[in-house]
Amino acid sequence: MTRIKIGIIGSGGMARHHLTRFTSMEDAKVVAIASRNEETGTQLAKEHKTAFIPEWARLIERDDIDGIVICTHNDSHGKIVLAALQADKHVFVEYPLASDVGAGEAALKLAEERHRVLRVSHPEAVSNTHKALKQKIGELGDLLLTSFVRLTPGRGARPEILFNLPVSGIPAHFFIYHIYPIVDFFGGAASVKKNAVYEGLKENGQYDRFVNTLIVEFKRGGIGQWTWAGGIAINAAEEHERYVLTEGTISDAGGNWHCITPSGVVPLSISDSPQPTLQELWFSEIRDAADQPPNLEDAAVALEAIRISLGFGE
Ligand SMILES: NC(=O)c1ccc[n+]([C@@H]2O[C@H](COP(=O)([O-])OP(=O)(O)OC[C@H]3O[C@@H](n4cnc5c(N)ncnc54)[C@H](OP(=O)(O)O)[C@@H]3O)[C@@H](O)[C@H]2O)c1
Repeated sequence: MTRIKIGIIGSGGMARHHLTRFTSMEDAKVVAIASRNEETGTQLAKEHKTAFIPEWARLIERDDIDGIVICTHNDSHGKIVLAALQADKHVFVEYPLASDVGAGEAALKLAEERHRVLRVSHPEAVSNTHKALKQKIGELGDLLLTSFVRLTPGRGARPEILFNLPVSGIPAHFFIYHIYPIVDFFGGAASVKKNAVYEGLKENGQYDRFVNTLIVEFKRGGIGQWTWAGGIAINAAEEHERYVLTEGTISDAGGNWHCITPSGVVPLSISDSPQPTLQELWFSEIRDAADQPPNLEDAAVALEAIRISLGFGE
């Protein structure tokens, strides 16, 4: 089998994660790592016996690369995705797809025109829990309300850079992996009302305490309510997610999904069948794209998720 040649952009936590996955795949060849951070970039390239390039634009223009894996901070995803597609590369990008809707729309259009695979790293595509939820939701009638509430005493055990407005966007945007599923289940939004309040917002874009809410009206009917309050006075973190449908409710508190109907409460049945990794899925899509147009349904869900996370139509 011919090997798929890839280049990685970024040399932080996710770049390291993806590199480990790709280097364990027999049909992958990591040609080079591009990073603005020479120290971590050269170190990672050395560990994986591959080349280091300081500028991502030089990586993208190389002819010996089929696909680009983008692991930079959120504010640069859109422009790197567009540049990679313009150079006829397949793209695997860490979520979010982009930090403005226009760039996301342009990316889907380019991927379609240029016949390139555009995969955003949303793990639902390979998640048994997501598949079980989608099936159960399909059996329980129409959506009335989907509700997600997260309360955290600290801002969250996440890297500092996430809580930086210009770099990462609002909490709903960098926490977009809680919005992608509701788009996949219920489709697009007719309107989104966004509210975000920050305390201790500094000139460099960092902040201490925040409350961010979204109220979504879905085109197909039903309301979505999404809230994260961080840095608040509370003893321990709480998180609760619910899908309230006309025939029953699916609820998760503490990682235990239950389905509640007039006949009782039953745990959600989740298969443990093995799933491909996202990296393997991307490779199979690249191979399929040799003789058929790439399937961009998942990228379209990722695009609608950024429309909602950014409060489009508020
Ligand atoms: N899929 C998941 O489970 C998951 C989990 C966590 C994060 N993420 C997403 O993955 C992305 C990367 O997160 P991370 O945790 O790996 O961050 P990280 O450890 O801070 O690494 C980011 C890397 O990208 C580089 N970089 C950032 N902006 C750049 C730009 N404009 N041009 C060139 N290089 C740039 C950084 O260089 P410097 O060292 O110079 O800053 C660093 O090497 C984020 O979008 C994040 O939201 C996904």
